[in-house]
Amino acid sequence: MTDVITTIKARTSANNFDPTHVMTAAEISELVEIANEAPTSFNQQNWRTVAVTSAEGKAKLQAAAYGQAKVGAAAATFIMVGDSQGYKQLPRIVQPLLDAGYIDQAAYDGWVGAANGMYAANTQIQHDEAIRSASLAGMTLMLGATAKGLASCPMVGFDPAAVAKEFGLKDGEIPVMIITVGKAAEGNWGRKARLPVTEKLQVA
Ligand SMILES: Cc1cc2nc3c(=O)[nH]c(=O)nc-3n(C[C@H](O)[C@H](O)[C@H](O)COP(=O)(O)O)c2cc1C
Repeated sequence: MTDVITTIKARTSANNFDPTHVMTAAEISELVEIANEAPTSFNQQNWRTVAVTSAEGKAKLQAAAYGQAKVGAAAATFIMVGDSQGYKQLPRIVQPLLDAGYIDQAAYDGWVGAANGMYAANTQIQHDEAIRSASLAGMTLMLGATAKGLASCPMVGFDPAAVAKEFGLKDGEIPVMIITVGKAAEGNWGRKARLPVTEKLQVA
């Protein structure tokens, strides 16, 4: 198994994908299982993904992504969907912990109550949480893809309203980013340089 730092340093955004490469349902499911390990606030798990693999789906998504060719060429493009209303799912997420005796009623009430207190009346933080959760899951999915020897590219170059309409997103769901995944073809750029760590790090 490749260690995580090697995987992080190996990931790079690809532009060219092998259009003949097909991912199996099991391979796609495994990547989502990996992404599902990403953390979320209160463990609300307020994201899901639409794996676009059919010719028809790719054509619709490519049109919504301003024609970006890699959406048509890559084996799969994952629409990372954040759910601004995800905190409402917490009772069913936390209940099993109560039932198993892992937490007591006071901890359950505190957990669900604190989340309601934080999100229920604040649409800005509902929105931000959807972006955070889908983004962390997206990064985790890309690292999983890299570890599996697959290329990927995160993208924000798409019309969110068109994606939401074409792929049936529900009220409160946000198409946060789309991520192409597949086999790299020839002609991709190498790794891109980063600004120095000194510009990134403030020690307080
Ligand atoms: C939020 C986000 C949106 C992006 N949108 C696009 C896009 O629409 N099309 C594209 O070709 N690349 C897109 N990229 C890829 C970036 O250009 C790329 O990550 C950046 O140049 C750094 O290169 P690297 O990923 O190879 O390290 C996006 C990346 C991120 C994180």
